[in-house]
Amino acid sequence: MNTRASFGSKLGIIMAAAGSAVGLGNVWRFPTEVGANGGAAFILVYIVCILLLGLPVMLSEFLIGRHTHANTVDAYRQLAPGTWWVFQGYLGVFTAWFILCYYCVVSAWTMKYMVSAFCGQISAISDSAEYFAHFTGSPLEPVIYLLVIFIFTHFIIIRGVQKGIERFSKVMMPLLLLIIAILVVCSFSMPGSRAGMKFLLMPDFTKITSKVVLSALGQAFYSLSLAMGCLCTYASYFTDDAKLVKTAGSVISIDTTVAIMSGFIIFPAVFSVSEVAPDAGPGLVFITLPKVFQMAFSEYPIFVWLFALMFYLLLLIAALTSMISLHEPVTAFLHEHYKIGRQKAAVIVTAVCVSLGILCTLSFGPLADFKPFFGMGFFDFFDFVSAKIFLPVGGIIICLFTGWKLDSSLIWNELTNDGRIYIPKLFFWLFLFIIRFLAPVAIALIFANELGVFA
Ligand code: PHE
Repeated sequence: MNTRASFGSKLGIIMAAAGSAVGLGNVWRFPTEVGANGGAAFILVYIVCILLLGLPVMLSEFLIGRHTHANTVDAYRQLAPGTWWVFQGYLGVFTAWFILCYYCVVSAWTMKYMVSAFCGQISAISDSAEYFAHFTGSPLEPVIYLLVIFIFTHFIIIRGVQKGIERFSKVMMPLLLLIIAILVVCSFSMPGSRAGMKFLLMPDFTKITSKVVLSALGQAFYSLSLAMGCLCTYASYFTDDAKLVKTAGSVISIDTTVAIMSGFIIFPAVFSVSEVAPDAGPGLVFITLPKVFQMAFSEYPIFVWLFALMFYLLLLIAALTSMISLHEPVTAFLHEHYKIGRQKAAVIVTAVCVSLGILCTLSFGPLADFKPFFGMGFFDFFDFVSAKIFLPVGGIIICLFTGWKLDSSLIWNELTNDGRIYIPKLFFWLFLFIIRFLAPVAIALIFANELGVFA
C-alpha cells in the first residue's frame, strides 16, 4: 500500500504552494527592484516574464513532481533511470538547502522587527540605520532570533505534510492577504501618496533596458520559487485530481498580487515622506520604513505601532512559509532516499542549517572581515552560489529535461489529468515551444547577466 503523504485538499495545495512563492522576495526584494529599476516599466516587464516564462517552468516542476510522487532525486531517477539527469534532483536539494542557510538570516531579522514593533520600539527609534547596524552586528541577538525561527520551522515540518505544512499555510496565507489589504488602504490614505501611485502605475518606457529585463526575469524566478526542489517536492504531494494548470495560475496570481500590493504599501508611504528616496536598496524595509512609519503618522503614535506591527508580521509570515518550503525538499530527500525516519531527517536538516545559518548571520557582525570565499563572507557566498549559480543552471536543466527528454504524451496526460480536463491544443504547443527553446535561452541570458558578462 502506498502510504506516502499528500495534501488533503485543492485549497491546501494552492495555499501551500503560494506560501512557498510568497516570501521575502515579494515584500522585500520586489519593491527594492522596482525602486532601483524605475517603477512601473519594471512591473510591466516583470508581468510579461511571469506569464511567458514563469508559468511554463512552474508547470514543468508540477508535472515532474506529481507524476512521480517522489522527492526530487528519486523523481528524476524514476523518469530517466541510469542517466545524468538525476544530477538535477541533487542540485534541487542542494539549492534549497543553500538558500535556506541564508534566507533564515533575513527571516530572523523580520522576527526581531516584529517583536520590536510589538514592544513599541519602532516608533521610538531615532536613527534607524544605526539601530539596524547595531542589531545585525551584535554577536548574540540575531543568533537567538535565528534559533527561534528555526525551532518554529522545524515544528511545522515534523508535524508532516497535511497537519504541518498544509494546515499552517491554510491559516497563514489568508491572514497575510488580509494584512496586505488593510495596509494598502492605510498607505493610500496617506497625504502625498499620489506620487507613489504614479511611480507604480505610469510606465516610462525609456527606462526599459536589457538590464531591467534581465533583472525582472531573475526576480520572477526567485519570487515563484522556481528551478529548485521546492515546487517539485510540493507537487509530489498533490493528489491525482489536482489541476496543474489551474493551480499554477492561482499560485502565480497570488504571488504577483502580493508583490505588486507590497509596492502599493511601500511606495505611497515612502513618497508621502519627501525626505526618503524610493531607491534605498535592500535597507528599504529595515532602515527606510521605520522612518517612514514615524513621519507618516507623527501625530498618532498608535498608528505607527499598528502599521509597523502589521507590516513586520506580514513579512514574518511570508518568510516562514517559504522557509518551510525550503526545509521540506531536503527533509523529504533524506527521509525517502536514505530511509531515515522523517523526524530524524528533519533534525539533521535543522541542525546543519542552523550551524551554517549562524555563520551567515555572524558575517554581519563578528565575522564581518572573514571573507574566505573569493572575497565573500558566508552570507554573500551562500546567496551567490545558490541564487546566482545553482538557480539558473537548475532552471535550464529543468526546461531541457521537460522539453527534450520527457515524452510529450506524458506531459499531455499530466496537464489534462489523463484527458479528464480540457486544455486547448494551442496552449500545449506554446508550452512545448517555450520550454524547449525560449525559456532555456532566456535563463541562460539571466545567468550571463548575473555573472556580469554584460556589465
Ligand atoms: N519565493 C520565495 C520568495 O519570494 C523565495 C524562495 C525561493 C522560497 C526558493 C523558496 C524557494 O521569497
